[in-house]
Amino acid sequence: MDWQWENVFRMKVFLETYGCQMNVSDSEVVRAVLAHAGYELSSVIEEAEVVLINTCAIRENAYRKIYGRLDTLRPLRKKMRQEKGRFVVGLLGCMAQNMKEAMFRHPVVNLVVGPDNYRALPDLIDKVSKTGQKKDLKEIDADLSEYETYQGIDPKRFDGVNAWVTVMRGCDNFCTFCVVPYTRGRERSRTLDDILCEVRSLSAQGFRQVTLLGQNVNSYHAEGVSFADLMTAVADVPGIERVRFTSPHPKDFPEPLLEAIAAHPNICKHIHLPLQSGSDRILEMMNRTYTQEEFIRLATKIRRIIPNVSITTDIIVGFPTETEADHKETIHTVKAVEFDNAYIFKYSERKGTIASKKFPDDVPAEVKTTRIVQLFDVQHQISFMKNTSKIGTTLPVLIEGETEKRPGFHMGKSPGNMTVIFPETSHLPGEIISIEITDATTATLLGQSVSSPVLITL
Ligand code: SAH
Ligand code: SF4
Ligand code: F3S
Repeated sequence: MDWQWENVFRMKVFLETYGCQMNVSDSEVVRAVLAHAGYELSSVIEEAEVVLINTCAIRENAYRKIYGRLDTLRPLRKKMRQEKGRFVVGLLGCMAQNMKEAMFRHPVVNLVVGPDNYRALPDLIDKVSKTGQKKDLKEIDADLSEYETYQGIDPKRFDGVNAWVTVMRGCDNFCTFCVVPYTRGRERSRTLDDILCEVRSLSAQGFRQVTLLGQNVNSYHAEGVSFADLMTAVADVPGIERVRFTSPHPKDFPEPLLEAIAAHPNICKHIHLPLQSGSDRILEMMNRTYTQEEFIRLATKIRRIIPNVSITTDIIVGFPTETEADHKETIHTVKAVEFDNAYIFKYSERKGTIASKKFPDDVPAEVKTTRIVQLFDVQHQISFMKNTSKIGTTLPVLIEGETEKRPGFHMGKSPGNMTVIFPETSHLPGEIISIEITDATTATLLGQSVSSPVLITL
């Protein structure tokens, strides 16, 4: 590598992250790669000569957000090019992988790097940051890998209570609506030893919770080790008080996994179980591999094996050809399962996906809006009912820190991943304390410490 070392040491990099937790975790890898190469990471965009944006491609509004953000960089680019003779704007992540060279059409972008190519970042930045060039230098590296898991790189995390730990990458499911198999490539898992080594070090650094991550986290398998084996081994690491995982697929919930979750007090009793649709016809068109009945049966089994488990979900409304009858089937499923919470999205056609080739996006925008509002309504009632039923109970809450909205209050998470707000106590972030729930909304629980009660209302 022949980097211009004197350049590297002077260059400040600003990194911004959009999208899911996988991107948050990837940005920690990017920070580690850059810090190792001698770049200085800055939280002030105005002083950075390199701006990296880690992007998402899941829905059209993710794209719109990034284009808007790139437009805001024009004045800074002009200023930096005048003052320093160079300015690098690098697009990373799923949008970079999906759009490739087409991103160079935006005048500020001169670097495009896909999610499997972050080890090459120092070289690529070096190439595009040569000073005194009349024309912008451009570089792209967006080749998907079958093997890259960033083994050996120690992610550069911010301090906090939770550490994201990517255990597998990629997705082989090809749900017809979804761009992820094209932006993240094929499934691959890290070895158990490598993951355990990282988790032990996280525990020693003071992280109290780890969240195992993967596009299809419960498809994890490496050298004969199953996801249930992995969860058990991680839960057994001394000092790790909570273990979570996301995002799973309903097809990979064998009983040993449910039993492992039930058996370990420090594995959180929370399962994200993406439904997508309640209509068998739409589920088949989506290639989700289960029917409504099978999904409800799985949810029932989860509740039987893991008492008091909280189940959350993702739903898409307005998939091509979705009728009122299909939509009613989704409402029926939501009522039957009684999810604790649901993330509901309008179908957004993604170029290159199977659905975009086979099924025209034919549900009108206003119908999608009506259906999403109806579903939100149904879910809000269920969430409110579930949350108010917790009033009077006492929950173990992992303190995460202050709340911006209510000075003097702390916020933390229940085992079911509910946000709990309570008056500050002498306990610090990272500690688990008993909170008696006194009030609830659709999204938040309010309570007070059992050891230092103060009377409050919402
Ligand atoms: N691997 C995860 C999904 C990650 S994407 C899983 O299988 O659950 C998160 C959510 O975005 C999906 O569950 C889906 O509900 C939604 N989504 C994905 N593609 C979409 C699209 N084209 N339009 C609207 N929502 C979409
Ligand atoms: Fe997308 Fe389906 Fe893979 Fe989830 S399982 S990332 S929805 S293709
Ligand atoms: Fe978005 Fe890529 Fe995550 S498309 S949701 S950032 S895997």
